[in-house]
Amino acid sequence: VPVSRIRNFCIIAHIDHGKSTLADRLLQTTGTVQAREMKEQFLDNMDLERERGITIKLQAARMNYTAADGEQYVLNLIDTPGHVDFSYEVSRSLAACEGALLVVDASQGVEAQTLANVYLALNHNLEIIPVLNKIDLPGAEPERVKSEIEEIIGLDCSGAILASAKEGVGINEILESIVHLVPPPSDTVAQPLRALIFDSYYDSYRGVVVYFRVMDGTVKKGDRIRLMATGKECQIDELGVLSPTQVQLEELHAGEVGYLAAAIKAVGDARVGDTFTLVNAPATEALPGYTEAKPMVFCGLFPTDADQYPDLREALEKLRLNDAALNYEPETSSAMGFGFRCGFLGLLHMEIVQERLEREYNLDLITTAPSVVYRVTTIKGEVLYIDNPSHLPDPQYRDKIEEPYVKVEMITPEEYVGTLMELCQNRRGIFTDIKYLTQGRTTLTYELPLAEVVTDFFDQMKSRTRGYASMEYQVIGYRENTLVKLDIMINGDPVDALAMIVHRDKAYNVGRAMAEKLKELIPRHQFKVPIQAAIGSKVIASEQIPALRKDVLAKCYGGDISRKKKLLQKQAKGKKRMKSVGTVDVPQEAFMAVLRLD
Ligand code: GTP
Repeated sequence: VPVSRIRNFCIIAHIDHGKSTLADRLLQTTGTVQAREMKEQFLDNMDLERERGITIKLQAARMNYTAADGEQYVLNLIDTPGHVDFSYEVSRSLAACEGALLVVDASQGVEAQTLANVYLALNHNLEIIPVLNKIDLPGAEPERVKSEIEEIIGLDCSGAILASAKEGVGINEILESIVHLVPPPSDTVAQPLRALIFDSYYDSYRGVVVYFRVMDGTVKKGDRIRLMATGKECQIDELGVLSPTQVQLEELHAGEVGYLAAAIKAVGDARVGDTFTLVNAPATEALPGYTEAKPMVFCGLFPTDADQYPDLREALEKLRLNDAALNYEPETSSAMGFGFRCGFLGLLHMEIVQERLEREYNLDLITTAPSVVYRVTTIKGEVLYIDNPSHLPDPQYRDKIEEPYVKVEMITPEEYVGTLMELCQNRRGIFTDIKYLTQGRTTLTYELPLAEVVTDFFDQMKSRTRGYASMEYQVIGYRENTLVKLDIMINGDPVDALAMIVHRDKAYNVGRAMAEKLKELIPRHQFKVPIQAAIGSKVIASEQIPALRKDVLAKCYGGDISRKKKLLQKQAKGKKRMKSVGTVDVPQEAFMAVLRLD
């Protein structure tokens, strides 16, 4: 097909507003897949994604569509992940498109995550087509939602399409709008090859499979290509399009979207956002916008059983083949033994990795509380990035500590504004803006330390608003604060894995709450276990776990044997997620105690 008849677009939608349903409909209506093949389909196909109802990885689909003007068009749908942790990947897939469908649930309205992605799309100069989905629902209020979109985003909604992805309403209109409103790619076939990688995954037979958009020039099977950011060179073994399963082709030219395999060993060698060009006739400059994914949140991962350390290392290596954003380094903790310090894009990314390690690799892990990266300037003027609180230099060596701040945008029904403001104030937030929209919906903007957001802020926001609020955040830079290291001592020994960095004004409360919480969580032993929280050498809180008085089995003495067995089993099970710190058994929950203080 000529470039003038290609349309590249993506769908921007909040979770549950119907992106996958609409994508499936488009595939079906264009005959790309048959209805009966649909079931396990298509756009999100990882188990975890399915369970959590979110789209994590990007994919693409090529559709052939004969428009009302009688011409054949190629429509490439490029999927975007729906979560802030992956906003860099979103920006790369937007960069591969000329247009976007903005899908908003007509019974709900605009949500915070939608906003973030629409702003990204506007930055990329995409043509945005508003679609009000779920108009079949009795609660649908398309007119209200239209004015909401106009008010918040400033997007003209007079031509917005009313649709029901579920019942197939408005689908043809959407296809026609894509053809008529989304501009075709520019015709740069004559230029040297430049293609943008917007996703990749690891396949054990073919190596990394790369999804890309050809921006300029032509790429052929057998070509030797160079990945411009990593400098790697390789030969294309396989090339094709996603329709939506992989179909091999001999060549792809500017404007087209496809996949390739070239015996690339790890996704880290073909990173999202990188440009590839021809080794023989290279482009001089890479496409703009490439950055390496930067981990924002760190935690320690330790096997409960030290024998599993090699298995954990192997599992992390395997996950990293497929996840260039996952970052890890060996860590030795005096309390926990050998493990890894891992960096993640955000909390969701962290949870996904932990879950996969436990489920797919059968590991029993102790996870330490998440930490952000602090920027410390020493008295000698050195700048250190500290991702592990126990590595914070002592006060006499520090000139200042800075911490990352984020701008948080929340959208909520008006009645919850008070409780959300209170939450933000408690988390050292700085109020920046409030806007009242139609029907009592409100946008609220705060600047907050990222450290206060990674500890259960999202859960608190959801529970305070009965699930009605949505949020989105964006890093805005480092700011200096009076921060101190809070050490926790169990039975007289400082436990490095429990050390944390807190604001001086909160240190006493956090220290006291931590000591109380640990007293609750750590089981009794044969001896007394003192727990202390300290700043430097100054103890600010202490508690004591009394010694066990009776043998647990004494109760059942002479009792029936099965009960005794059960009790022993229960103990054994409880033991599984324990780590011995000195002579004290500390359960997994204790390492996460900081997340449950209020
Ligand atoms: P993520 O993949 O989690 O981002 O969600 P999504 O935006 O892809 O939403 P999905 O397509 O999975 O739809 C969410 C729910 O809304 C599902 O239960 C769909 O059946 C339902 N749904 C989608 N479109 C419509 C519609 O037009 N009308 C009605 N009534 N329900 C719809």
